[in-house]
Amino acid sequence: MTRIYARPLSPRFLTSPSPIERNKMLNRITIPRWFDRHLHIRDSEMMKTVLPCTLKQRATGAIIMPNLADPISSIEKAKAYRERITVVYQAHAEGTPGYYSRFEPCMTCYLTDSTSPDEVVRGFQEGVWRAVKLYMANQKGQGGTTGSAHGVKDLLGRYPVFEAMEKHKIPLLGHFEAVEEDVDEFDREIVSVDRDLKPILKSFPGLPVVFEHLTDGRAADFVAGYGCCDEHATLFATVTAHHLMINRNAMFWGGMNAGHYCKPVPKRESHRQRVRKYVTGGHRRFGAGTDSAPHDEQMKSRCYGCAAGIFTAPTAVEMYTTAFDEDNALEHLGAFLSENFLGTYGMRVSSEQMTIERTPLKVPVKVGAVQVFKGGTELPWKLVG
Ligand code: NCD
Ligand code: ZN
Repeated sequence: MTRIYARPLSPRFLTSPSPIERNKMLNRITIPRWFDRHLHIRDSEMMKTVLPCTLKQRATGAIIMPNLADPISSIEKAKAYRERITVVYQAHAEGTPGYYSRFEPCMTCYLTDSTSPDEVVRGFQEGVWRAVKLYMANQKGQGGTTGSAHGVKDLLGRYPVFEAMEKHKIPLLGHFEAVEEDVDEFDREIVSVDRDLKPILKSFPGLPVVFEHLTDGRAADFVAGYGCCDEHATLFATVTAHHLMINRNAMFWGGMNAGHYCKPVPKRESHRQRVRKYVTGGHRRFGAGTDSAPHDEQMKSRCYGCAAGIFTAPTAVEMYTTAFDEDNALEHLGAFLSENFLGTYGMRVSSEQMTIERTPLKVPVKVGAVQVFKGGTELPWKLVG
């Protein structure tokens, strides 16, 4: 009897289809200067190394994350941190008049279990901070990401703060990922949507909430569909450049790749595509927040306990532009980078412009001791002024 062999199935490629006819005619795009809605610049020497990257990227300002080793959890600390940022900014601005014109470091308050509603409101009213950052920690005091161990353990206990924030329209910037050890790493975001975000939104319908660095397609559907209409939207999301570009395979392909490890971790390809559809499709509730998070090589090269964070600051604009171009959607780039829900942070759309050209750009491999995301590769777009 002849044996009948079953043929192995050929692989189905899951990468995004490239548009049939890309708009190759558009070689130059001018949009208002942009705003980074989520940025880590650290402190001291590291700040001197990384802040100039965002300045050179022509950002009008950035939402400065407060997760330093000593978290920015009081008005005094936030004021002092802003001073230190301003010193570094001015040192760079002096040598290049005009170029670095106006960069607004928008401070955030690191919410802990003991932050009082009064402190939050006072810091906001005194113009010290623009928003409150929510990190969560589990009952053992372990945070889910870098610098989050001082985060909130008792979310319900924070409701009086949320109530005050709702009254004064102080935005809550949430790192929504479940922090219990036994939750599957790739489901942390969607578990937190059901467990944490939905009850907050239900209890405080007038509270502006930004879902930070969104990665899960289900979370994206939720943000896009929440509430009655865009005009009255209270829920928004930031999306990073790296999460638009890589899926979870990038962490493991060819060996473990610490340079592709960040929190939330990149998800499977179908999630990347779903998130990207809202972003490049021009949905107004999604805006650019790089979550550029520098760690030196030593922290990134630990065999166990490798630090979470991807550094994109040097070429973030070009990376976002590349994603929009690949989806044939450059007409939506300006809103995503420079307009969407800026009012939530008390920012206006800039009257100054920036121009990006279809010119090859080599991504630097390193800035100081920090490896750059996709370092050494080439991008087809370049910010030219
Ligand atoms: C951030 C960091 O390094 O501060 N890391 C990261 O992976 N994104 C913290 C954070 O935003 O989660
Ligand atoms: Zn971050």
